[in-house]
Amino acid sequence: MRMTSAVHYSEKIMAGEFGDVIRGFSSKASPLVSGLLQADSREVPEGLKQVGDYAPQSKPVPLSRYYDPAFADLEKEKLWKKTWQYACREEDIPEVGDRYKYDVGTLSWFIVRSAPGEIKAFNNACLHRGTQLCSNNGWSESIRCPFHAWEWKLDGDLKNIPSRWDFPQVKSDDFKLPQAKVATWGGFVFINPDPDAAPLEHYLGVMPEHFKSWEPENRFTAFHIRKLVRANWKVTMEAFLESYHVVETHTESLGFTGDASTQYDIWDQGDAHISRLITPLATPSPHLGDEASIADAANYAFQAFALAMPGVPVPKFDADSQLTARAQVAQWRRQMMGAGLGRDFSSWPDVTMIDSVEYYMFPNFCPWYGEGLPLVYQFLPYGNDPNLSVMSVRLTAPLPGGGAPRPPSAPIREIGFDEAFNSAPEIGLLAIIFDQDMSNLPRIQEGLKAASDHRAVATFGRYQEQRIQHFHEVLDKTLGL
Ligand code: FES
Ligand SMILES: [Fe+2]
Repeated sequence: MRMTSAVHYSEKIMAGEFGDVIRGFSSKASPLVSGLLQADSREVPEGLKQVGDYAPQSKPVPLSRYYDPAFADLEKEKLWKKTWQYACREEDIPEVGDRYKYDVGTLSWFIVRSAPGEIKAFNNACLHRGTQLCSNNGWSESIRCPFHAWEWKLDGDLKNIPSRWDFPQVKSDDFKLPQAKVATWGGFVFINPDPDAAPLEHYLGVMPEHFKSWEPENRFTAFHIRKLVRANWKVTMEAFLESYHVVETHTESLGFTGDASTQYDIWDQGDAHISRLITPLATPSPHLGDEASIADAANYAFQAFALAMPGVPVPKFDADSQLTARAQVAQWRRQMMGAGLGRDFSSWPDVTMIDSVEYYMFPNFCPWYGEGLPLVYQFLPYGNDPNLSVMSVRLTAPLPGGGAPRPPSAPIREIGFDEAFNSAPEIGLLAIIFDQDMSNLPRIQEGLKAASDHRAVATFGRYQEQRIQHFHEVLDKTLGL
């Protein structure tokens, strides 16, 4: 693909040691996000108009932290045992007795619907001799160990010990199952193993305000994939925090993706470490130059969205329409989604209907906003090896209107280390994109171990990779480095 260097960058925000940070890269055909929001056919919610108030320092990050077992141990002790983290969705455990297994490397908890409206998270280890109490998601009336049948009630109180006479030293009050703190927001379930932790609200920052009108709690999991990856959890996660890689890794989407005009924002307030990207769709990449075709951008976007709706006729860009190309795509999405779900999307802005808006809350939570790509990512270490991770991808769909019952949460589809996302036909075009991302990850993991001792650091783009830079700032602080 031929690329030109025509650029009109603007919105400098901060002068630093290396000069100004330039907030994005645009062309005549592909304005910055701020311009697209102004041109939206509907009123854009305040949260989307709000820009981040934090810019991280530019600092190289040592590559060893992605593979050093001692660093992974430090993360286990000072990060995963000490912070609020996203475990699952409430709809994964709708009935009393439902449980969801949540593993972080070698750490393991299980989340239980212990009573109507009550959720608990227990350490996944028997108080007798340590056996894992929950090996699968599922339902049971009580919590019972498969080894000698020690048994607890769903609220963690000890219920029964076979041959109770043989354990005079066991006082029932001392043998309640140890718990992590649990809190929910927007249908998501978070845990924090630290009993002294501040409330979850301190960590959510701007998110409740920004997501309010979109109501993530009124959605259900339409698909759920857990992919094992041969790369450190941070390598995997960082591949999804920037759109800088789109031009090389997802080249075929440049015709309808404003990769380099992506807006990145960070809010860092006390315990709340939140960032966001907004990558506009139905707009050509600024890499394609000033003369890139807006009609093509709309037509590619129609086709991409239509792939999720087989059999539906694909519209064409209408040059005579009063609506912009983006507004035409958004209008069609409103009609299609409205008809499919029996709901009214007529007041929803273009940005909410078509763009890729991804939030991130330190350390493992990536909820996307809007109907463009309503995904939720979760990134976690896997087992005892810092070279492995697991990425969970959900798609959440709006609940149907007209009083229809809440559809059940989709079961988890497990995809192994050497299996591709395209073994999951339910995710359509996304599988190709994820497999492109996945093809990079084991190479990164190997390459960073082969780096010269003199250049064994990562160097981040000041703007496009600022969310990764920010993550490492927060990680350093959390680990006491
Ligand atoms: S280890 Fe659980 S009952 Fe013995
Ligand atoms: Fe990607």
